[in-house]
Amino acid sequence: MKLVTIIGARPQIIKAAALSRAIKNHFSDRIQEVIVHTGQHYDDNMSQVFFDELQIPRPDYNLHVGSASHGVQTARMTEGIEALLIKEQPDFIVLYGDTNSTLAGAVAAAKIHVPIVHIEAGLRSFNKAMPEEINRIVCDHCSTLLFTPTKAGLDNLKREGFPMDNNGPFTIDNPKVYHCGDIMYDNSLHFADIAEEKTDIIQRMELVGKPFILATIHRDTNTDYPERLSAIFRSIIKLSKECQVVLPLHPRTAKLLKTNLDEDLQKQIFTCQDIKLIPPVSFLEMIALELHAQLVMTDSGGVQKEAYFFKKPCIILRPETEWVEIVQTGNAILADADESRIMEAWQHFQNNPPTAFPEIFGDGHAAEFMLDKIISCKVL
Ligand code: UD1
Ligand code: UDP
Repeated sequence: MKLVTIIGARPQIIKAAALSRAIKNHFSDRIQEVIVHTGQHYDDNMSQVFFDELQIPRPDYNLHVGSASHGVQTARMTEGIEALLIKEQPDFIVLYGDTNSTLAGAVAAAKIHVPIVHIEAGLRSFNKAMPEEINRIVCDHCSTLLFTPTKAGLDNLKREGFPMDNNGPFTIDNPKVYHCGDIMYDNSLHFADIAEEKTDIIQRMELVGKPFILATIHRDTNTDYPERLSAIFRSIIKLSKECQVVLPLHPRTAKLLKTNLDEDLQKQIFTCQDIKLIPPVSFLEMIALELHAQLVMTDSGGVQKEAYFFKKPCIILRPETEWVEIVQTGNAILADADESRIMEAWQHFQNNPPTAFPEIFGDGHAAEFMLDKIISCKVL
């Protein structure tokens, strides 16, 4: 069986590590994987570092689309992916998550009848102003095999009319939904010990034994609106008086800090000893930071889950989340870009550090489960 896997943005490259590892360890005699990197992310610290560190096979193709508006970027990717699908004639295309690379893969494949496997299916924010919400809805509704990472994802697909008890053969018009757990959980379990052993970021940043908050910000709804970005950074300045803040900066945020924050706020941020602004870190370094942080504050989907995997409280800098379970269990609080809600959430977790983190992301073997289903689908 031949799979064409599409990756492009940082979290997709990391997710692909889990599937490629499972293919190598358990399915190498039955599955050939052709990896296509769209080039959506291209800085070394947003792309290459993950290939080097996580033993992901080199991409067979790179479309080098780079950054552009949604329409232009998606169009360039769609054109490139269509040509490669025609050339490679795969049994399935594998798409992760909800980025423009996911959307391009879905549109290109569906129109020329290449069946789609969607990993991380069914997630919804119910906020169609998010580009990711459009991407994930389109991808789910073009897919043949849908793998949901959480119960909420499964329920969303049920509500949207996906059949639940259907038999094969599975097609775009008779799609099959499987609930399997989260592939990022596979990765976090696999790499946690390796991260502790192989990285020295905690020592290098002189964080040994010191409490710190790990923060990430990259959503366009936060970076592109000066009042929202300013509110987040004002809260970071307040928090830094109580606890150091470590903030690996996504390139989007690094650029927009300079245009969307006033000079005085920028000066306070760049001169504060207790706010450590650093370039994006590798995945192993990120895991090490998550393992040692006192609390995580983020608008990232991946990082809020990893906070949960590593049993840390999380302040979510968004009005809603697709990962509703982590809020329902009380381990994360939605604070949006609201200074007073952020400070209240911090105070809440200071007084009530969470202790119970029920298993809601599967058993750490989602990748093997998915590959098994993909193989048997071919047999049908
Ligand atoms: C994208 C995804 C988002 C995901 C995020 C993961 C879409 C619509 N958004 O957002 O869902 O959470 O990736 O990180 O697909 N840039 C660089 N170097 C790079 C990559 C980007 O400088 O290697 C800068 C460029 O100025 C670019 C901006 O970051 O315009 C945004 O990049 P883009 O890929 O369009 O969106 P992200 O915000 O990264
Ligand atoms: N990540 C990383 N280095 C960083 C920031 C994040 O390796 O400097 C990892 C993080 O651990 C998670 C993934 O990138 O696995 C999340 O990606 P991101 O926040 O860019 O996107 P999202 O998950 O919101 O789509």
